[in-house]
Amino acid sequence: MRISVIGTGYLGATHAACMAELGFEVLGLDIDQAKIDALTRGELPFHEPGLPELLTKHVDSGRLRFTTSYEEVGTWADVHFIGVGTPQKPGESAADLRFVDAAVASLAEHITRDALIVGKSTVPVGTAERLGTLLADARAHAGLPGTVELAWNPEFLREGYAVRDTLTPDRLVVGVESAHAENVLRQVYAKSLAEGTPWIATDFATAELVKVAANAFLATKISFINAFSEITEIAGGDIGTLADAIGHDPRIGRKFLNAGVGFGGGCLPKDIRALQARVSELGLDRTMRFLAEMDDINLRRRDRVVDLAVQVLSHSLNGSIRTTGVGDGSGTVPSPAAVEVLNGAKIAILGVTFKPHSDDVRDSPALDVANRLFTAGAEVAVYDPKGNANAARRFPRLGYVNTLQKAVIGADLMILLTEWDEFRQMDPEDIGRLMDRRTLIDARNVLDPAPWRAAGFTHAALGHRFAPEKSV
Ligand code: UDX
Repeated sequence: MRISVIGTGYLGATHAACMAELGFEVLGLDIDQAKIDALTRGELPFHEPGLPELLTKHVDSGRLRFTTSYEEVGTWADVHFIGVGTPQKPGESAADLRFVDAAVASLAEHITRDALIVGKSTVPVGTAERLGTLLADARAHAGLPGTVELAWNPEFLREGYAVRDTLTPDRLVVGVESAHAENVLRQVYAKSLAEGTPWIATDFATAELVKVAANAFLATKISFINAFSEITEIAGGDIGTLADAIGHDPRIGRKFLNAGVGFGGGCLPKDIRALQARVSELGLDRTMRFLAEMDDINLRRRDRVVDLAVQVLSHSLNGSIRTTGVGDGSGTVPSPAAVEVLNGAKIAILGVTFKPHSDDVRDSPALDVANRLFTAGAEVAVYDPKGNANAARRFPRLGYVNTLQKAVIGADLMILLTEWDEFRQMDPEDIGRLMDRRTLIDARNVLDPAPWRAAGFTHAALGHRFAPEKSV
């Protein structure tokens, strides 16, 4: 079976390399010539553990090739996976479907044999049905040989674990309209099926909804614990212990209850917004309204880090705690109190990617916080093991350094915003010696406060009342 993959971003490039690993001949297509040239040389344009090795292996063996030609994929492949982006429309909540639409239309005009088109991109419910009609019309009009069918097979891969999640998924969900389509997909995923991976064959609408329901649930879990952070920050209590305690209940589970600066990335934020937009279109304005609250809770965490920075710095400079109050999450304009304290402060920013093991800074809470501090007049020294280049493209004016040590030298405050292993393993004495003031904010709750306090640090963390008297 010959497989094409349309779109060679995080999803498409991973899927193409993994399909080659499963033994198929694969042709990846992208309209971006530079991306195709890089992939053809075996170079991955983004960071994803394990993927460069797979790419080189299969490019070298000739099993994995890349092209910009729809004509080539249309005459060659039996199955065409679509892995193009469905970003948030600028200034709106809805998803921008123009790349998916264009991919289906281009395939319809170029396929010259029996084939199955399989959508993997995350789309609003109703999209596959609409594309099915578009496909049938375009095929009738094109008058080309071959019967072409559509299926939907949502992708659940996590960045940082993309290869593992593709080769050994938790479950496989396929939206199909015929036994033939299901059979073709069973052949594609024969290895996973033989290993006992749950197989859910269903209709288009369910397949589309499974993906957004999963992401909405995960986002809700994170915001749920972060809402309790807002409580423990005022009332006292330990957010980590609270998460552990409720997580022992198997109905709740401990995963995705890590309190911190919140969720970001290319999926969760835009997917919960697109879902709200879609259900409003369906006339269900109230149904997903709680997701707007989840979004707000998530964005307020960024305000909280800025506020904590003001509190910690004002305490460290003159013993009094200034506070800016927790905003509404929308604030990119710093308050006068924030500017007064932050202006000229030297702040080490540890991490700018939306999570570790990725170089992705899309909708990254860490990068947003770094930029807010900079906008308020702070001198930020940003260090991320993988994300500096992407962050610098987004916010070129921030100060970027290429080691952890350079970030903390002379700093008045250090803020851990992405929980890379390098930061978890920091030695308080080594770091303290380099800083001007021994102060730190743990915005991911991954550092044990005891050794840091023992080394003379003022330690603050999200989900904890700021209590400097406990420090030193
Ligand atoms: C997510 C889904 O997990 C995946 O199934 C889907 O296919 C794509 O979207 P991804 O965007 O790679 O994957 O990241 P994920 O690991 O889900 O983390 C999302 C964000 O939530 C990150 O910013 C992470 O730091 C944050 N997070 C996660 C928390 O703040 N707390 C947690 O407990 C877990």
